[in-house]
Amino acid sequence: MRILIGITAGISAYKIPLLIRKFIKEGCEVRCIMTPDSTDFVSPLVISTLSKNPVGIEFWNKETGSWNNHVAYGEWADVFLIAPCTANTLNKLAQGACDNLLMATYLSMRHNTIISPAMDLEMYQHPTVKRNIEQVLADGVRVIPPDHGELASGLSGEGRLPEPETLYHEVMAHLAPQKDYLNIKVMVTAGPTYEAIDPVRFIGNHSSGKMGFAIAENFASRGAWVTLITGPTTLESSHERIHCVKVTSALEMFDAVKTHWDETEIGVFAAAVADYRPTQIAEEKIKKTSEDLSIELIKNPDILSWAGLNKSSKQRTIGFALETNDADQNARGKLARKNADAIVLNVLEENEKCFNSDTNKVRIFDVNGLALELPVASKTKIAQGIIDFITTIRV
Ligand code: CTP
Repeated sequence: MRILIGITAGISAYKIPLLIRKFIKEGCEVRCIMTPDSTDFVSPLVISTLSKNPVGIEFWNKETGSWNNHVAYGEWADVFLIAPCTANTLNKLAQGACDNLLMATYLSMRHNTIISPAMDLEMYQHPTVKRNIEQVLADGVRVIPPDHGELASGLSGEGRLPEPETLYHEVMAHLAPQKDYLNIKVMVTAGPTYEAIDPVRFIGNHSSGKMGFAIAENFASRGAWVTLITGPTTLESSHERIHCVKVTSALEMFDAVKTHWDETEIGVFAAAVADYRPTQIAEEKIKKTSEDLSIELIKNPDILSWAGLNKSSKQRTIGFALETNDADQNARGKLARKNADAIVLNVLEENEKCFNSDTNKVRIFDVNGLALELPVASKTKIAQGIIDFITTIRV
């Protein structure tokens, strides 16, 4: 787990070194961002030593002469915990202010921000603070309520930062993968197919298989049993719930899909299957004897269409589309033609390099039209979003 901790200028920042030690001891990776004022409360040297990473304070790192990239922090983190979160930072979170590295990072996190507000009891009861908490909750931030007890002011009441152990368990409970697909049987196709021309040559494409593998991994982490039917890729999966079936050609992929289809409840067809294959595979390597050479091709079976035709009322099929023109219209057409329950359109805008890239941007269509759009994000996060969507259409 990659834990990003944002430290703001509250007395209870003294508890954060113990929290960092706890995360590290449990095998997490930790990075920290501090607001400039918080460095009066706890030393960056302590934070950096315990987290085993440099601390981000300013946008510009004078020592290394490099830029502290807030977007990279956001992409790195599985979760961003802001603790303690002062009334001032809470206000900025509610407003979307961007006047320090911590705030810029918050705005770069797509989800998974948790805050632990800590302040004096009168401050915590103030209507503006209550309003700001309502606002960040509405924005999707998770709020760990403060503890009741002795406060730095000498007063006693609600406003204390919870103990490191409590913060640790709150974060872990938040990150624990939901088991919403426990023992559900899923099939995923991934990667390209290679269509042999002769013993040493083939027709293929640039699909890396990353999207299909990310989908398989996410299903497995949510408790599903996954049959991952993959064309040639460099990827491997060691998850105990993923049964990997390696194939080369579209016909082999089709056979593997048919073999496993009856036991499948959800089929996600992410493979970039070659539409055509050579009519004949030369037995010997083709020699360059003539000036030109034609290879006759024959259409491959459409695996997604076959599954769409052969599904029961308890099975769901989800396909992918990659279009260079009239994308939405073509994706909708594919949904109907292939009798799919949803089509995930790889959107090339802002993410031109879809094949082999670690990021993706997608729009999901179902029978009612555009159902969901997921902005550019890592394929892991896109996989999570796609599966969250499938939850809404599964039986
Ligand atoms: N697909 C499949 N078997 C094929 C071709 C495609 O299962 N022989 C699946 C892909 O895995 C993907 C979807 O169908 O989920 C979209 O494939 P695509 O090749 O883009 O669609 P086509 O129907 O071939 O349309 P076109 O080539 O005209 O865009």
